[in-house]
Amino acid sequence: MASDYLWFEGIPFPSVGFRIEDLKSVKNEFVVRDEDFITLSYPKSGTHWLLEIISLIYSKGDPNWVQSVPMWDRSPWIETEEAHEQLQKKEGPRIYTSHLPIQLFPKSFFDSKAKMIYLLRNPRDVLTSNFYFFRLLSGVKHPQTFDQCFEWFLQGNVPYGSWFDHCQGWLQMRGKENFLVVTYEELHQDLRTTVEKIIQFLGKKLGPEELNSLLKHVSFKAMKDNKMSNLTLLPDTIMDHSQGKLLRKGS
Ligand code: A3P
Repeated sequence: MASDYLWFEGIPFPSVGFRIEDLKSVKNEFVVRDEDFITLSYPKSGTHWLLEIISLIYSKGDPNWVQSVPMWDRSPWIETEEAHEQLQKKEGPRIYTSHLPIQLFPKSFFDSKAKMIYLLRNPRDVLTSNFYFFRLLSGVKHPQTFDQCFEWFLQGNVPYGSWFDHCQGWLQMRGKENFLVVTYEELHQDLRTTVEKIIQFLGKKLGPEELNSLLKHVSFKAMKDNKMSNLTLLPDTIMDHSQGKLLRKGS
């Protein structure tokens, strides 16, 4: 059971693509800069959707970047192997992603002015998405039934630990100027208004045509067909593409 994961400070991580030394270094040594932008979420909250939106805000609605560069190069997950080393060397403003719980996130963030969006999704849909997605991945425990998945989810015996602890931890940051909470549900209900809120938070400006182009390219259909964003570029050794997809239902 537990041996299927890589454990760090009581939190289970997939045993493929993660190393204890990276997790330690990210927490204690990674230097967050004031001009950084970070997307933070519990897995299966719609992270890739938000990342596509962020990419298209940075490219002012021009789809070239999202159609030519994989998601993980546009906004790397700092806790994964080598990503934080590459990010440390990168000059200029950086955008990156993380699923880390607050206690494992780089300490330097809490004294910085770096902006962060915390993406929330209701736990019922996170759980369902988790059930269908993690069975495609290597290095992760695969539940036999939905009930077993539910039990593990409640126990926090899933990648990145308990959803409840994750939200409770990060939501303590609510009210800080550099911290914005966005929900999957509001993206779903009113994408345009929510994207406008994000643009404002980032201090960016998009004209009406740029915004329309962004909205077109972040639709479920557009992202499902974009191999730079739908994870189909991941090798079969990491994700079993014959068993399912990242963009499963999206509702
Ligand atoms: P479902 O499994 O419920 O379909 P994450 O990126 O954090 O792993 O989250 C994946 C979830 O976000 C999946 O949910 C996926 O379908 C949904 N998603 C991804 N892109 C989307 C989009 N453009 N519109 C709506 N939902 C999207």
